[in-house]
Amino acid sequence: MKRQLHLNLFIHGRGHHEAAWRHPAASPLALTDIRYYQDLAQRAEAALFDSIFLADQLALGEDVAQAPRTWLEPITVLAAVAVATQRIGLIATASTTYSEPFNLARQFASLDHISNGRVGWNIVTSWLATAAGNFGDAGQVSHADRYDRGEEFMAVVKALWDSWADDAVIDDRASGRYARPGRLRPINHKGEYYQVAGPLNMPRCPQGRPVLVQAGSSDTGRRFAARHAEAVFTAHMEKATAQAFYADLKGLVAAESRSPDAVLILPGLSPMIASTEAEAQRLAREVNELSDPEVGRKRLSGRFGGHDFSDLPLDRPLRPEDFPPPSSIEAARSRTEVILSLVRRERPTLRQLLASLASARGHFTTAGTPEQIADLIEGWFTDGAADGFNIMPPVLPTMLETFSTQVIPLLQRRGLFRTAYEGKSLREHYHLAWPQSVFDEAALKAV
Ligand SMILES: Cc1cc2nc3c(=O)[nH]c(=O)nc-3n(C[C@H](O)[C@H](O)[C@H](O)COP(=O)(O)O)c2cc1C
Repeated sequence: MKRQLHLNLFIHGRGHHEAAWRHPAASPLALTDIRYYQDLAQRAEAALFDSIFLADQLALGEDVAQAPRTWLEPITVLAAVAVATQRIGLIATASTTYSEPFNLARQFASLDHISNGRVGWNIVTSWLATAAGNFGDAGQVSHADRYDRGEEFMAVVKALWDSWADDAVIDDRASGRYARPGRLRPINHKGEYYQVAGPLNMPRCPQGRPVLVQAGSSDTGRRFAARHAEAVFTAHMEKATAQAFYADLKGLVAAESRSPDAVLILPGLSPMIASTEAEAQRLAREVNELSDPEVGRKRLSGRFGGHDFSDLPLDRPLRPEDFPPPSSIEAARSRTEVILSLVRRERPTLRQLLASLASARGHFTTAGTPEQIADLIEGWFTDGAADGFNIMPPVLPTMLETFSTQVIPLLQRRGLFRTAYEGKSLREHYHLAWPQSVFDEAALKAV
């Protein structure tokens, strides 16, 4: 079969543009109203998207006076979205730094059961420095230590998800036997960070394990993805860096003795779409005019771990020396590299930099006709930059609707996107194999 694209809808606020929440075309619903998320997921399902995705931060941003976020806790939201949809995959973010593996394994296994096998976990180590203040206040765990702890976390959750063999449940009312005890096992994990006896107190999930998604792009983040991820979200402002990332990550996956096809790479794409390019650009300008550079300045500071940019003038060209070096950043290291590479390449003023980050926080943004967007998608897909896209509509739901009704049919006509769901689970939509258990199933007793 011809290789086809995978499309994930990234739901964020009332759209990915920082000022989208104020735009008249954005949803009138409150961002705490579950119908908003259910409606978006249903629209994405009608358009045959593979999945939806919710990001998460564990502290209130500095910009709450002028900007809303996606407020509801993602695992809880997905449970409500699961019962309002049938086929679409559902991906929630949760942190390895600020959760216990037993709780997290249980929550995602529950979601996988609730959704009949449609759940994915976006594994994050939580870059936001202020999150530490909500979890014991011992200061932010360093970038390296977060990934180190994340590694052990993964070993524990995988073992917990595998702790029930596929055939452990009999549920036989006549004989009075519910489970085969020999087909369950403790995990007896004793590590540097975690001590977990197991087994999980729940039967194995419909997908074996939730689909594992990851979005760290630093060197350590890429190596972590190569070992664990089945889909990778990534942010690029240029096709060339997306191609370099794609080649590098697929190489790292092969070096871990995994098939490069076992990991889908999905860069972010935030398209403003209209019937003419001039109209798409006018819409982009209209939303940009609603944004406030002081919100951008606070967000920039958050990305750089709280670095103070308050003295930087808005209208002089920026220099790399205006920023701390990425290697010293304990927060979102790879995103600071994306920002610095833009500064080196284009020498924008702070006002221009903040305007370009306002659109989609360092992901690729574009304004054009449906044909132009379809051409761009096809170009990245065929030129080794992407296996699909994390679609980030600048204004929701309007730009999702335009993408679904005008761009997707073009992709379908070119044979690049499905015309019906074939599978039922997220694993099937993504064409991923059943996960290999960490235990030797054959060695277990058949009782
Ligand atoms: C599309 C996308 C979504 C992300 N979502 C989250 C999120 O919800 N929460 C979070 O703490 N980090 C999120 N991240 C950040 C990464 O998980 C990672 O922490 C960050 O890039 C820093 O790690 P790195 O230096 O290895 O890249 C996201 C990144 C991308 C590209």
